[in-house]
Amino acid sequence: MDRAEIEREIERLSPWPRLVQLADKLYTIPQQEWNKHSNAISHQHFVTQLLRDVFDDFDITPDEKTLLDYGCNCGWLSMSLRRFGFEHVTGVDVSERWIEQANFLASACKLDRLHFIHGGEEVLDTVPQVDITCCLGVLNHTCSPVLLLEKLREKTKTKLILDCNCLVKENSVEVEEGANDAGTIAAHFRKGRGLVFDYSKQAVRNLLLSAGFETVYERVLPVSLPRKGYYIRRVFFVANCDTKTNSSDALQLDILYNDIGPGSYVQDATFPIEKCIPRKNTMVDTRNVQLSTQPEHLRKAYLDFMKRNPDKRFYIWGTGSLYTSLQEIFPRDRILAFIENDTSKVGHKIEGIPVVTPIEASRMGGEAILVASHAKKKILKQIPYVFQGKVQIP
Ligand SMILES: C[S@@+](CC[C@H](N)C(=O)[O-])C[C@H]1O[C@@H](n2cnc3c(N)ncnc32)[C@H](O)[C@@H]1O
Repeated sequence: MDRAEIEREIERLSPWPRLVQLADKLYTIPQQEWNKHSNAISHQHFVTQLLRDVFDDFDITPDEKTLLDYGCNCGWLSMSLRRFGFEHVTGVDVSERWIEQANFLASACKLDRLHFIHGGEEVLDTVPQVDITCCLGVLNHTCSPVLLLEKLREKTKTKLILDCNCLVKENSVEVEEGANDAGTIAAHFRKGRGLVFDYSKQAVRNLLLSAGFETVYERVLPVSLPRKGYYIRRVFFVANCDTKTNSSDALQLDILYNDIGPGSYVQDATFPIEKCIPRKNTMVDTRNVQLSTQPEHLRKAYLDFMKRNPDKRFYIWGTGSLYTSLQEIFPRDRILAFIENDTSKVGHKIEGIPVVTPIEASRMGGEAILVASHAKKKILKQIPYVFQGKVQIP
């Protein structure tokens, strides 16, 4: 396709929801209109950076990995991730119009091993399993969140990255925890957007858990919109596929309010959520945590902790070199389990003590976690979301 043809197609397929560069000074959204689209454009920058941070934090290298971009829109993120190095990227979107745009962009940019499929949850049956799935901005729009997440779980081998508008009580960056109702959903019509469901963060975690995902990371974006006593804020979730939980533990989600106009949306939308696990949103106090990962600092802090709490049994998070350099200080009969994010280590035993995933550990009732891993900063972000009850972290 030459430049003139590309320009004609951009014109024919406009308006464009996202900014994509096709050639030197050739964009889906003309430069003189960028101001009008500044929210979408800055969101694209933000998402791109955030995903790179997540890949970094979770040691996800794109080579030889496949990715599904569910709700891909015009394909901007799929293209960016294919260029980033993912071996094969599949984008799926329910809108025919966005898929037409996506197919045009992929061919104009001569990107191979990038495929776009038009359809909703049902087309996932035709897609092969992938290593990583991104599902950004879709959960708020589907009437079948359970079905969607279960299908994504079936299709995903390692991690799901999901973002969603969430209801939070406080409009401050520090207080990130949301509506205190475990399973809150609000449904309403948003002008021009149709039926939209907003969830409390806990409701999203519960949905993920009931579909077999384990939330290991959350990040709340600073921007917020007021809504009937709550604020709507976008939240990114990273979830692992290795939880053994199944949906049978689940309970009813509560509907917070609906202002969707005449008629009962519960009937209209045949809302299929029967399941949700209520939990207390107890945050873990990490103010006095030893942040250093120097063995000599940890040795002192952990010996001190064990002396002050002679009756407590604890978990040790990490089984790598940092743990090895400290192992002689931990009496074996006080270690309840080892916690590992590395699933290849889970299921084994070390000196008879089981190595478990974070979510398995959270059900074992331990009272403290001694982190013996160089990834301590990342783990400290994970702990509050996995361990909903009180747990001490020296
Ligand atoms: C808010 S946009 C987000 C687009 C893109 N993921 C991003 O982050 O820029 C939501 C997208 O999901 C698509 N979508 C909504 N419901 C869907 C469903 N049930 N299945 C597939 N795509 C869906 C919409 O057509 C739209 O492109």
